[in-house]
Amino acid sequence: MSNNLHYLNGNWVFADNLKVSAFDLAVSRGFGVFDFLRTYNYQPFYLKEHIDRFFNSAKLLGLKVPKTKKEVEDIVYEGINKNSSSELNIKIILTGGETEDGLTPIGKHSLLVIFTPAISYPEVFYQKGIRVITVKGSRFLPHVKYLNYTQAVIAMNEAKKFNAQEALYVNEEGKITEGTRSNFFAIINNKLITPDKYILNGITREVVLKIAKNLGIEIEKKDIFVSQITQFEEAFLTSSTKEIMPIVAIDDKTVRKGSVGEITKKLMREFKVFVNS
Ligand code: PDD
Repeated sequence: MSNNLHYLNGNWVFADNLKVSAFDLAVSRGFGVFDFLRTYNYQPFYLKEHIDRFFNSAKLLGLKVPKTKKEVEDIVYEGINKNSSSELNIKIILTGGETEDGLTPIGKHSLLVIFTPAISYPEVFYQKGIRVITVKGSRFLPHVKYLNYTQAVIAMNEAKKFNAQEALYVNEEGKITEGTRSNFFAIINNKLITPDKYILNGITREVVLKIAKNLGIEIEKKDIFVSQITQFEEAFLTSSTKEIMPIVAIDDKTVRKGSVGEITKKLMREFKVFVNS
């Protein structure tokens, strides 16, 4: 465990003291919201957008963040200063809080901001691409980054059996919506396609769409069906931790004969330039 300091309800504490009550709805019912971002060059990446999404998630679940957006921003900057020995992953959490009846929030939330050293995925994932599986299901409230990732844990257990690094949710209509912790993109007929419905509005997704637009790549936000997998010329995932991660196999089908595609490579290169600029 690192010696990092974390924010908990107005105090800065080491991991040993980063605790919430067992009676908190986050513990007893998995109820609460979070957001997750990282630093590049010791600066928070798209902080404002992550904070906006965090407040929106809270609002959609009827929770009130006990701080203003500016105050949460200041906490993030203070934490980066206190934990300056490495690039950081930053997780902002608002718990459902303690209750009287075991279910109803009564405003006794905990606000936590956790600062851990950023960990990168193995380079081989980016050079050779990864395998993913599809699983039936979709997130209950896709726009909300809520704490309960039960579906994701189950899906990833399944993925591991197939040596896959991510699982893609396929909804009742046969649409690939998103990964358990990432957004999904495919390239069909040289066009970059990403689902626009039933997804978390990923911040990395937005950045990638912006980069693709600047590169003159044709973009379409529309449904992608699981039945279209064999038409994929390329495919990749995006997230704050995965950045752009190429996919070369989905279930038992290879994408682009199992190698990373040129458009994906171009986007990966530009993404690196962008985050370091
Ligand atoms: N997950 N969809 C889901 C369901 C996610 O959980 C995430 C991020 C994304 C991508 O969002 P962004 O580009 O803003 O990171 C899409 C984080 C990384 C996590 O839960 O660890």
